[in-house]
Amino acid sequence: MNPEDKIIIALDGMDGEQAISFASRIKGLRWVKVGLELFVLEGPDVLIKLRELGLRIFLDLKFHDIPATMAGSCRRAAAIGAELITVHACAGLKALQDSQWAACEGAAQAGLKSPTLLAVTVLTSWDSKKLAREIGIEQSIQSRVEELALLASQARIGGCICSPWEAKALRQRHPLPFDLVTPGIRPKGTDLNDQARVMTPSEAIQSGASRLVIGRPVTCAEDPVHVFDMCCSDIASHGQV
Ligand code: C5P
Repeated sequence: MNPEDKIIIALDGMDGEQAISFASRIKGLRWVKVGLELFVLEGPDVLIKLRELGLRIFLDLKFHDIPATMAGSCRRAAAIGAELITVHACAGLKALQDSQWAACEGAAQAGLKSPTLLAVTVLTSWDSKKLAREIGIEQSIQSRVEELALLASQARIGGCICSPWEAKALRQRHPLPFDLVTPGIRPKGTDLNDQARVMTPSEAIQSGASRLVIGRPVTCAEDPVHVFDMCCSDIASHGQV
């Protein structure tokens, strides 16, 4: 896989026009992440336009509902061309299994290839104390993440989202093709913003990540093309495993 195929640029804080114009400026860009904000604003149209640019879509809407509703949403998302789709692992085994099945069926009916569902384990906005105090979960974040990643793999969905710092342990238990997609990536010398525990692109790949989500280091850079190229070179020269 080329380094460009391992990088997903998060189009956060943009409207549809800005997202299209930004994505078309980055030569070599293969993957973009459309999150809740952009999707709520623009709907499926923005996905269709991004796909017309030849881009592959990670639709990050983090579905969490009863099995039938999750499955129906995944079917629709796959039919509009999303190739990576996030779901919350804590929706449970049946919801994950039904979602994966419906997504494959939705894609096939639209003449597209099967998408990969990615489980969100524990959002990085939680810490162990808050989990116990607010929702009664007396478990360390680490064991919770491991338990939910295992559930995702038992449901035979494609992988999970995790911090690059969780990737090593998860990769030992879940070999490829189970996808580990990691945000929290910062190329050397770039601003951390609000990310506390980061890795460089090559470090994350060495730790077992299969794809990286990168937002502000590229989208807010003075020269986004240069930072994107820097990330690709870092993976090409130090990130092969
Ligand atoms: O700008 P930055 O590179 O920090 O963006 C990371 C992207 O990954 C954002 O879209 C953010 O919402 C997402 N994300 C994250 N941490 C998680 C899950 C998703 O940063 N645990």
